[in-house]
Amino acid sequence: MHAPWRFVLSANSVVEIKSESEQQLLTPREAVLRMDAYHPPTAGRRNKLRLDFNENTVGAPPHVIDFIKRYVTAADLSIYPEYDHALEDLSRHFGTGIDELTLTNGTDEAIQLLMNTYVDSSDEVLLLRPSYAMYKFYSQLAGALIEEIDYRPKTLAFPLEELLERITAATRVVLISNPNNPTGTGTHASAIEQIVAKASNAAVMVDEAYYEFSGVTVLPLINEYPNLFVSRTFSKIYGMAAMRCGCLFSQAGNMAHVRKAQSPYSVNSLAAMAARIAVQDQKFVEEYVLEVLTARELLYVGLDRLKIPYVTSQANFVLVEAGERAIEIRDELRARGVLVRDRSYELPGCVRVTVGTRDQIQRFLNELEQIW
Ligand SMILES: Cc1ncc(COP(=O)(O)O)c(C=O)c1O
Repeated sequence: MHAPWRFVLSANSVVEIKSESEQQLLTPREAVLRMDAYHPPTAGRRNKLRLDFNENTVGAPPHVIDFIKRYVTAADLSIYPEYDHALEDLSRHFGTGIDELTLTNGTDEAIQLLMNTYVDSSDEVLLLRPSYAMYKFYSQLAGALIEEIDYRPKTLAFPLEELLERITAATRVVLISNPNNPTGTGTHASAIEQIVAKASNAAVMVDEAYYEFSGVTVLPLINEYPNLFVSRTFSKIYGMAAMRCGCLFSQAGNMAHVRKAQSPYSVNSLAAMAARIAVQDQKFVEEYVLEVLTARELLYVGLDRLKIPYVTSQANFVLVEAGERAIEIRDELRARGVLVRDRSYELPGCVRVTVGTRDQIQRFLNELEQIW
């Protein structure tokens, strides 16, 4: 309970402290005032079948957990992070130079770094719609002028021609998720190349969070295009969303600028260690991809049988057109312990279903059939 007001004795005077309602709050920056708050539904997800955040549904790789349990020392936690070994191992894994990679606190920090490095207030940022919410979030935070281009109606195909048309000399940043969340649709490396070539004045970031499922990457092109940035994350296939670790790649000169705009310790030591260990076991990755791609086929067959339309996906999630009952279906599934994500606020009637193992998808289909 707060008293409406109170007096506090300081060294040689009595100071009146005003109640909260009487105090004059500070006014934040205009950009913060204008932006939407973003509250993903992250509460109460434990012990449920989590088909709502496109995570790895079997959890982090056992060898990473084993390493953390057995080898992390007191010194590891008391020393400020050092990234040399992680940069060495990860750049070798990804086939880039050490100077072409920046470790980030998830993809989210990569997006923010791009904004901090290249976007002044009122600069133009090109986004696709619908796409990953944090692109708009950080663009708004930077006070950017946001231009949005819609994915094609019905098919939700990548709008290459429309995007190319909208690129001008004023475009400072272009953010592309390939494949895209939440549509699941993607585009070819050659389409990305056209965009990067046309937007030569802009930093073009291709977010490859779901690369392992699509097999399409433009990472090798960073040497050819000085305005190309590529991001990868350990939050999805590697099952380490809680660790907050990702990589941003571009030419060394760009990375030098980006690193100047980054806090020196933004990635914690455990995350950097876990990422090094995670990439050592590619069998874990290959087996999980195979399981998901098989389960995705099972999901398509089940949806076809129920005559529920969906968008064919290149990632570990499928956009399902549940129709007018979309929110009701999400809630009924939740009551049965299965979480899916409502997207009807941006794609009417749609819910997004993360694809996990075949058993998990079978359980989802069984529950869906009962409430459909
Ligand atoms: C397109 C895309 N990029 C990145 C992320 C994850 O970002 P992070 O690496 O910060 O966990 C997501 C998560 O949903 C996503 O859909």
